[in-house]
Amino acid sequence: MTALLEVEDLRVAYGKIEAVKGISFTVDAGQVVTLIGTNGAGKTTTLRTLSGLLKPVGGHIRFDGKSLRRVPAHHIVSLGLAHSPEGRHIFPRMTIEDNLRLGAFLRNDRPGIEKDIQRAYDLFPILGERRKQAAGTLSGGEQQMLAMGRALMSQPKLLMLDEPSMGLSPIMMQKIMATIAELKAQGTTILLVEQNAQAALSLADRGHVMEIGRIVLSGTGQELLHDESVRKAYLGED
Ligand SMILES: Nc1ncnc2c1ncn2[C@@H]1O[C@H](COP(=O)(O)OP(=O)(O)OP(=O)(O)O)[C@@H](O)[C@H]1O
Ligand SMILES: [Mg+2]
Repeated sequence: MTALLEVEDLRVAYGKIEAVKGISFTVDAGQVVTLIGTNGAGKTTTLRTLSGLLKPVGGHIRFDGKSLRRVPAHHIVSLGLAHSPEGRHIFPRMTIEDNLRLGAFLRNDRPGIEKDIQRAYDLFPILGERRKQAAGTLSGGEQQMLAMGRALMSQPKLLMLDEPSMGLSPIMMQKIMATIAELKAQGTTILLVEQNAQAALSLADRGHVMEIGRIVLSGTGQELLHDESVRKAYLGED
């Protein structure tokens, strides 16, 4: 079986500073793969490069059998790669429902779009209850739900989530993680970047630990959860 996403020796730089220094990993259809690592390790840079917002200086990205070299960002979405960015970036003055519709901007199957809006409300009932309100009135956790719902509206083959639990209360964080587990159970393929290594590794099929632009350790979620160096560095144990 070939992987849905293959990243090979990817290098990304900001000017002269190389933020991603040759990383390789794959994501198979149906898997949840997580990238964990310290601040500044290059996780967001990696996701932004996969969605075409940054140009790599080296390496290869293949998605669904196609090279993403020279494919513009808007076209990458239409290939089935959706990105829920760090910091959410919802449109605060637009209604919740209109924010969701924006995620479907490349689709023209109206009945399918309506069905998927309903699906987002089933996944996150609070969004349905407040569908006509400005998105800026949502709490941080609810805005995260909206960002995830919006990314799902493009019917992605691969959903990339950058720090979905950032800044959330423990209860809200659990809810977001439970939703990711539910999406996985429904067969959604997910590339998850998370500060909360415990939560991310618990539900991931595979994980990669990044440090200053490199992958320094890879394994199944369970292997990394039980790895001594991971426990010390990321799970707060000594
Ligand atoms: N626009 C930019 N211009 C210059 N350097 C940048 C830019 N964005 C990120 N960097 C640098 O690239 C490196 C990787 O940053 P990146 O945001 O990818 O890390 P991260 O792993 O997502 O970190 P965090 O956990 O804090 O979100 C850091 O050293 C960062 O300072
Ligand atoms: Mg980041």
